[in-house]
Amino acid sequence: MKNILVTGGTGYIGSHTVVELLNLNYNVIIIDNLSNSKIVVLDRIEKITGKRPKFYKGDIRSKDDLRKIFNENKIDCVINFAGLKAVGESVKKPLEYYENNIYGSIVLLEEMKKNNVYNFIFSSSATVYGDPIDVPVDENSKIGGTTNPYGTTKLFIERILNDLVIAEPKFNICILRYFNPIGAHPSGLIGEDPNGIPNNLAPYITQVMVGKREKLNIFGNDYDTKDGTCIRDYIHVCDLAYGHVCAINKLEKSQGIFIYNLGTGKGSSVFDVLHAFEKAYGKPIAYAIAPRRAGDVKANYTDVTKAYNELGFKAKYDILDMARDAWNWQKNNPNGYED
Ligand code: NAD
Ligand code: WQD
Repeated sequence: MKNILVTGGTGYIGSHTVVELLNLNYNVIIIDNLSNSKIVVLDRIEKITGKRPKFYKGDIRSKDDLRKIFNENKIDCVINFAGLKAVGESVKKPLEYYENNIYGSIVLLEEMKKNNVYNFIFSSSATVYGDPIDVPVDENSKIGGTTNPYGTTKLFIERILNDLVIAEPKFNICILRYFNPIGAHPSGLIGEDPNGIPNNLAPYITQVMVGKREKLNIFGNDYDTKDGTCIRDYIHVCDLAYGHVCAINKLEKSQGIFIYNLGTGKGSSVFDVLHAFEKAYGKPIAYAIAPRRAGDVKANYTDVTKAYNELGFKAKYDILDMARDAWNWQKNNPNGYED
């Protein structure tokens, strides 16, 4: 499998995965509607890799856009990053989220089938585990009980994919459930560039570091955890990117539907992450304790055994690496890709 169609390839995880693929001599074609990313990402990818991926500005909900790509390119495998991902926004705009994420994935799968392309890798999320009873979770842990429409789109798409392989056994699918991707490419040329006030922890911290926000609000220090703050499994985005190469290799050898959690296996609290960023910064970072955030779960991190045994996947980086690289990106690009 050499020719990879990456939907959402100018986004945060997509761009890092494209770099990884280009460095390994895959031929990459991107489709992105640029609803949450910037075209300049392509220049940055070229700067890092010396190669420019073929780019189509288009929408996965558009059969015409997809037909053009499948007509003009031989595609062996599709990685579907395209989707809306803001949890809070999804509560306010559920129809937009269901339409974009679920309908978009359905149109993409239909067009793949028409063009005899059956290898599919899907960006799912740890959010499908809802509020886990036991941690670490593994791939057999109960899914469901999602706390917002965004998470439910991931749950429903997973279900659709399971139904699809029963009806159409030619489909060969890898579902990757990402834990909390943070960090950036060590070059500092690509990274996470949220619009407006960041919803997520790491970009909020780096915006405090760069002087764009006054202080970090820690959402609750009264959870039943080692320091009262929530526990997550933060994974370096470059490790996550490599996980997609492992998934391609898996689909090359196997036929069916496969599910893997991608994390480090290590749970870190909000304070652990803050302290890692303080190390990268060399000074303290202002914070205040704020009320709990609705929908947050106390702890979620993964057992990494299945991904290691079946994909050979093992994260290389720890939260200090993640903090260093996220800070390097933010420092070099205080306004993200706007500069
Ligand atoms: P992102 O918003 O940076 O990237 C998504 C890209 O998809 C953007 O470039 C956006 O412009 C594009 N896009 C959205 N809808 C589209 C459509 N209909 N047609 C074409 N392009 C479209 O997000 P990300 O953090 O890189 O996440 C990538 C995928 O991974 C998403 O599906 C997300 O739900 C999933 N995921 C992300 C996280 C996370 O914490 N970042 C965790 C788990 C899963
Ligand atoms: C991490 C921790 C917050 C911001 C979300 C989605 C999930 C997945 C990854 C896509 C929590 C705390 C945060 C802040 C804080 N995305 N926090 N102050 O909530 O684990 O997961 O992103 O699939 O679906 O829900 O990540 O980075 O928002 O929060 O104290 O300003 O940091 O309470 O404990 P989360 P996060």
